[in-house]
Amino acid sequence: MNHKVADLKLADAGRLRIDWAESRMPVLMALRERAKREQPLKGMRIAGCLHVTKETAVLVRTLVAAGAEISWSGCNPLSTNDEVAAALAAEGLSMYAWHGLSVDEFYWCIERTLDFKPTLTLDDGADLIFQVHAKHPELAKSVIGGTEETTTGVQRLRAMAADGKLLYPVYAVNDSETKWDFDNVYGTGQSSLDGVLRATSVLLAGKTVVVGGYGHCGRGVAERARGMGANIVATEIRATQALKAVLEGHRVMKMDEAAKLGDVFITATGMKDILVGRHFDVMKDGAVICNTGHYDCEINIGDLEARTRSKREIRPNNEEYTLKDGRRIYLLAKGRLINLAAAEGHPSEVMDMSFANQFLALCALAKDGKKLEKKVYALPPEQDQELAQLKLGTMGMAIDALTAEQQKYLSDYSAGT
Ligand code: ADE
Repeated sequence: MNHKVADLKLADAGRLRIDWAESRMPVLMALRERAKREQPLKGMRIAGCLHVTKETAVLVRTLVAAGAEISWSGCNPLSTNDEVAAALAAEGLSMYAWHGLSVDEFYWCIERTLDFKPTLTLDDGADLIFQVHAKHPELAKSVIGGTEETTTGVQRLRAMAADGKLLYPVYAVNDSETKWDFDNVYGTGQSSLDGVLRATSVLLAGKTVVVGGYGHCGRGVAERARGMGANIVATEIRATQALKAVLEGHRVMKMDEAAKLGDVFITATGMKDILVGRHFDVMKDGAVICNTGHYDCEINIGDLEARTRSKREIRPNNEEYTLKDGRRIYLLAKGRLINLAAAEGHPSEVMDMSFANQFLALCALAKDGKKLEKKVYALPPEQDQELAQLKLGTMGMAIDALTAEQQKYLSDYSAGT
């Protein structure tokens, strides 16, 4: 058997979800049509470790249409959509993913995808590529290259490359403008609030929402929460980002102060220990805490447990911790990424461009990966313009182009006032 999923009987429901996503991912679907003819991934064996969602299913089907064989696992214990995983397994695809797996099972799934001896790897968070490097370096010899979807993963891979430890080239898909400037901002913004609302149904208007980290993701969350009437407090370690938050109309302060004010806390830093014991000690009764960063290390749950008298699941993805002094803190989705654990991740429309970049990165590796060094590469910026142009076209919008005269003006350094 080439799969392990929760329940194959969910396949019909999964197919409906995938149909919905396909109807909202026109750029990737156009690339699929071309790839059916050109077969750019023919002969490639792709091991993927990326959230199993309806959008990922559209990517997976596109990889297969382009001639690849795939073997897939989810990249987070709580992010797999079981219906989608069942639909892909029922199509005969090699799929090892179910919602709620343990950490041991998580690595077992990755191992199964490596049994298939990939020629390309695709990561979101770099767990697969780390497993190759740490446990199966011999497999790296037949890997042409890899791709990485997310900020956290790219940071770690760059550190590995700087230490000369990277065994094959990797494309940093995250670093493409049509990825980070859309997916990280609008995708994370909307889907994180979607997760908070599904897990709590709180009214955001009038609430103080504390956003930990004002990077692209934090900014997206802050903007969307403000749009629903919340007052935003941002915490930061980078002065420039903090200043941006201030000029965008938010308050900025240290988490030690923000902890006393927040009604809802959303961490989006990629760093551990953003919310720790001393913050829980001063939070209001009823505070809601959650994380939208890749790993579940941003909220120190051990510290929370140590202060807890009792806890209960008050509704799905929402645990009420009653502290020894009687205050209640509500932890969402066990501190795992709220947007995928409690909602459906970024909407299809935005994943359209992220996954178009993923697809083109894998095609580039299949074509020319053997010529690359063992480094982390960015995708060509022209690709961003092409993808954005395509996306605008599918939305029925057109943009202007410079005339020949205007082009000349651009480089005319003799022109004055
Ligand atoms: N990461 C964030 N949202 C996602 C989605 N919908 N599918 C796959 N990966 C994601």
